[in-house]
This record gives sequence, structure tokens and C-alpha cells, in this order.
Amino acid sequence: MTPSIATSVRRARSSDTAALTALVNRAFAVERVFLDGDRTTGDEIAALIASGCFLVLEYAEGIGAAVLVHGPGQRPGVPPSHAYLGMLSVEPGLQGMGLGVRLVRVAEALAEAAGATSMSLRIINLREDLTRWYRSLGYRQVGTTPFTHPSLKRPAHFIDMTKSLEAAVCYPVGEAGAVGAA
Ligand SMILES: CC(C)(COP(=O)(O)OP(=O)(O)OC[C@H]1O[C@@H](n2cnc3c(N)ncnc32)[C@H](O)[C@@H]1OP(=O)(O)O)[C@@H](O)C(=O)NCCC(=O)NCCS
Repeated sequence: MTPSIATSVRRARSSDTAALTALVNRAFAVERVFLDGDRTTGDEIAALIASGCFLVLEYAEGIGAAVLVHGPGQRPGVPPSHAYLGMLSVEPGLQGMGLGVRLVRVAEALAEAAGATSMSLRIINLREDLTRWYRSLGYRQVGTTPFTHPSLKRPAHFIDMTKSLEAAVCYPVGEAGAVGAA
């Protein structure tokens, strides 16, 4: 059985900037096989924290995971009733313990409370594992968007995914990511 760790979720603070930048870059190092360089910079994370949209999941040793959530109407390019989830990052040594699912659930609940009818996100098509992961959480592909980046090592595009947030308050017992002792 996968061990469970005690966690709590809060909004990121400016004092988290360095730790959060390092965490996101460690988590996204998996994409270096097709995209050179770091995923983000301290300046970008500082601005996102200032926007109030970053959530962090803390455990005994610090920040274990983080996610960016834009509420309805806050994300250009997605329908105004949709929230948007991005930069989901779990500390590599803590992956596979349910923290990613836990943060997605928190983001969905927050978005729904803010009036969003759906959650949108986008992933790079070269991450087939991620497509499967988000599908298992109820997301479905709704389109694609071109992706160009000077550091891209091979052709790629975004896969746009969305999930209706209706009835997101309760999940059947036993469903992947059911909330255990948190
Ligand atoms: C993708 C990511 C957020 C998942 O978080 P996580 O905490 O490792 O995942 P969880 O433990 O919550 O996942 C639960 C289930 O998904 C499975 N899973 C975890 N990572 C997976 C992956 N990359 N692909 C497919 N399945 C995966 C687990 O085995 C588990 O399945 P089970 O319940 O049947 O045992 C995390 O691996 C990560 O930070 N990756 C790097 C950054 C990234 O790709 N972010 C997403 C960009 S949008």
C-alpha cells in the first residue's frame, strides 16, 4: 500500500518564491527530453504568486506540490465560465503517492466555488502518460493548439483538455484519488 503523508494546502506567499521555482523546475525536468532548459523562472513564479493563483501543498519537510489555478474569467483563451489549471508539480521523490490527485481535487473544488462550470488545462502531446493520467481524473480532449518554442527539440503541439465540474463535490469511495487521511 502506498504510504500516506500529512499535508495541508494554502495559497503561495512571496516567501515561497525560491522554493516554488525550484520545485516546478525539478518536477518538469522530465520534459527536458524534448524541451531544453528550465520550465520557469523566479520572476515568473513571483508574478504568479502575486496574482494569488498559486496553491502549495505543504508537508513536514516543506512544499511537496503546487498548482496554478485561474478562476473563471481570469485566463485568456479559455471560455469565461471555465477555470484553468496549470504548472501542476509534485516533488519527484513524492510522486505516485496521491498528492497530484489531491491538489487537482482542491483546485477543482475552489474553481467550482468560484462559479466555474468546467476546468480547462493543456498538456504537450509528447506526454502520453499525462494524457492518460488526466483522463483517469475525468478530463477529455477537446482540441489541439500549436506549440512553438525555440528550445523544442522535436515537433509538438498542445492537447487541450476539459472537465465539467458538476457534481465535483462528492467522489465515489474507491475512485482513483479518493481523499484519505490528509
Ligand atoms: C503528473 C504529476 C502531477 C502526478 O502527480 P502524482 O502525485 O505523482 O500522481 P498521483 O500519485 O496523485 O497519481 C495517482 C495515480 O496516477 C498514477 N500516476 C502518477 N503519475 C503518473 C504519470 N506520470 N502517468 C500515468 N499515471 C501516473 C499513479 O500510479 C496513481 O495510480 P493508482 O492510483 O492507480 O495507483 C506528477 O507526476 C508531476 O509533478 N509530474 C511532473 C510535472 C508534470 O508533468 N506536471 C503536469 C503538467 S500539466
